Amino acid sequence: MHIPSLIESKREGGELSREQISGLITAFTRGDMPDYQMSALAMAIFFKGMTGAETTALTEAMLHSGSVLQWPADAPMRVDKHSTGGIGDKTSLVLAPLLACDGVWVPMISGRGLGITGGTLDKLDSIPGFRTQFSESEIYKTLPITGCLMVGQTANICPADKKLYALRDVTGTVQSIPLITASILCKKLAEGLNRLILDVKYGSGAFMKTEAQAHELAQSMVTVGRSLGVRSSVRLSRMDEATGESAGNALEVIECVRCLQGQGPPDLEAIVLDLACAVSISPRAELARMLRDGRAWAKFQHMVEVQGGQVDSLERLHLIHRAPVIHEMKAPASGRLAKLDAGTLGRAVLELGAGRAKASDPVDPAVGVDQMRKVGQEIRAGEVLLRIHARSQAAAEAAEKAILAGLVVE
Ligand code: URA
Repeated sequence: MHIPSLIESKREGGELSREQISGLITAFTRGDMPDYQMSALAMAIFFKGMTGAETTALTEAMLHSGSVLQWPADAPMRVDKHSTGGIGDKTSLVLAPLLACDGVWVPMISGRGLGITGGTLDKLDSIPGFRTQFSESEIYKTLPITGCLMVGQTANICPADKKLYALRDVTGTVQSIPLITASILCKKLAEGLNRLILDVKYGSGAFMKTEAQAHELAQSMVTVGRSLGVRSSVRLSRMDEATGESAGNALEVIECVRCLQGQGPPDLEAIVLDLACAVSISPRAELARMLRDGRAWAKFQHMVEVQGGQVDSLERLHLIHRAPVIHEMKAPASGRLAKLDAGTLGRAVLELGAGRAKASDPVDPAVGVDQMRKVGQEIRAGEVLLRIHARSQAAAEAAEKAILAGLVVE
């Protein structure tokens, strides 16, 4: 295999074979293909794209660059969801225990926050004692006990993706549909899944800004997922408004606890049920019952306990992570709330300290917004529109000013 010729072929818009792609990924994982060659190849893919067959081959090669979880033939069906990320997108924390109540297994491997969107692992870190770094043998031991697990990527899962993602991040090659498809799917398929639901969002609070881009990504992921033997489906939705009533790490866990206790909010509950229906055994009405009668809440508490978290902290998170300043942002006028822009809100929450500017930054579990009113509601001037949890009054005021820029009351 002559690597420069393969890079040139892709640069000219040629199609690489499954064997060539597998050879490239194997060489890169072993360290036989230097970063500069892989960066050049990523840029050629960025400009020339990949066919469905190439994207499938790339996903497969990245999947097999490390271990793939293997489950016994008589094990329950394994299901999961992947979200392309959004503001206040906290559905995983409710969905995983809900699905486990349905008798399927959910070996959920999640990530940290990226850009203005939050990450499941960062949210879970606000539960005292909760461990997300599990070895593969711990995963095998624990999943049969709880039916659901929420952990980070292990060292052996998709090492090619770890290396390639780090390169893409610094070479302007993140926003490529085939590269995103392979990166997301290889990690999900490494869980040994039977069914996958892809929650693809577009709009101001999502990575994909237009419906056309989101549709293209969704199509690519479903095609590759299905060709690799996983029943995959998509929920395509707008993200112009944050999900639920809060954004920020501990604040979102608090909201999920409420949802698991059957107390909404309605939009979060509806999204969770939509996603659950796509991969579950039971119909929607039965899933809604599991959410409202305490079964999903009991399952979540069991998972927290098994992952080392303090179960009795779950209803005290608002005290454990109480920000020094809780500032009420009041509605500037009366009328219908026409817009509370998710992108603007996400950037304000990031500035408060809930997200990162670089990978090594810590996140602040306490900061963010909650008690957010929803678009379409009637509000009166002076009513609380949302609460800002901040480290200082100045930070809260800066967030209020930023959020105001994305607010429309008609
Ligand atoms: N998330 C991933 O894991 N990979 C991408 O390429 C983009 C988002």
